[in-house]
Amino acid sequence: MSKRTILVVGSLNTDLVAKVDRFPDGGETITGRNFSVHCGGKGANQAYAASALGGSVAMIGQVGEDGFGAAQIANLSSAGVATAGILRDPKKETGTAFIGVDSSGENRIIIVPGANGTLTPNQLQVECPLFQQASLLLLQLETPLNTVAKAIKLGRMHKLTIILDPAPAAPLPDEWLESIDYLTPNLSELNLLVGDSLVETASIESITASARKLCTRGARKIIGKLGSRGAVLVTPEATTYFPAPKVQAIDTTAAGDCFNAAFAIALDRGNTTHEAIRYAVAAASLSVTKAGAQSSMPSLEDLSNLE
Ligand code: ATP
Ligand code: RIB
Repeated sequence: MSKRTILVVGSLNTDLVAKVDRFPDGGETITGRNFSVHCGGKGANQAYAASALGGSVAMIGQVGEDGFGAAQIANLSSAGVATAGILRDPKKETGTAFIGVDSSGENRIIIVPGANGTLTPNQLQVECPLFQQASLLLLQLETPLNTVAKAIKLGRMHKLTIILDPAPAAPLPDEWLESIDYLTPNLSELNLLVGDSLVETASIESITASARKLCTRGARKIIGKLGSRGAVLVTPEATTYFPAPKVQAIDTTAAGDCFNAAFAIALDRGNTTHEAIRYAVAAASLSVTKAGAQSSMPSLEDLSNLE
């Protein structure tokens, strides 16, 4: 494996997806339109997408010793991801995500971590050679926070570019903000990180003001993911807005994962931050036009057809 590997440390989930016209209220039962099962999990989605876009990708994560876990590994392998770092916990089931997708493509997700929740910092230490071979590290928060902390430490030690998706939202220590290169929250994650309550229609100026609070705590580059509005890059010095193309959204599940993977691939190919964000916005807008998580990830060919 060359030194140009993109390493993903993160989760693998079986996504159990119900399509609904609208989400139920508390205590209400509604009838869904259809049900499907997809390979998902933020880590696995990022690994799959980066590989589909032509990257050399390895993943560290953990599944159970069940059929779902085997299916996850097989799906990633078939996409070209190096899966030797995906461990099996005989005592836990593979992670599961219960997902509702409404008629506008929006989703509501409940995850049960299973074997993602028992991935330990020590297991990362054992997989240290994968860090040595990598140039860039993709992280999310669906594995234990002390394991993510260890990944950041190993990433720094091996001088990797670190991109952290703070999802699902959790408070982050300042030490993390100082150690990573890019933080990629969506609006609700940004709100939780800084204690604000921005709404979907918040102005770019107010989003910038929120993101700058993270800069004062040590963050260098924050990429706010704004759904159909696109993305915004906030640094201590400047703000740049990247609008998304108008598309017919079928299912936005994993759009953020597609964004992070495409951004990583473009950066790793030597593009500037701005060029990489443009590429990520284009890739993610394609992903929302298809159903599912890994099943919605665009290929290199899909993206070159856009140019
Ligand atoms: P996820 O559903 O994976 O948690 P997220 O909430 O992290 O996603 P979003 O902002 O919803 O992130 O989506 C990531 C990116 O996908 C956006 O920055 C945008 O570029 C693209 N995107 C999302 N929704 C749409 C849409 N309806 N139309 C066009 N592009 C979209
Ligand atoms: O980001 C989308 C992912 O979040 C889904 O695939 C689901 O598994 C949850 O982890």
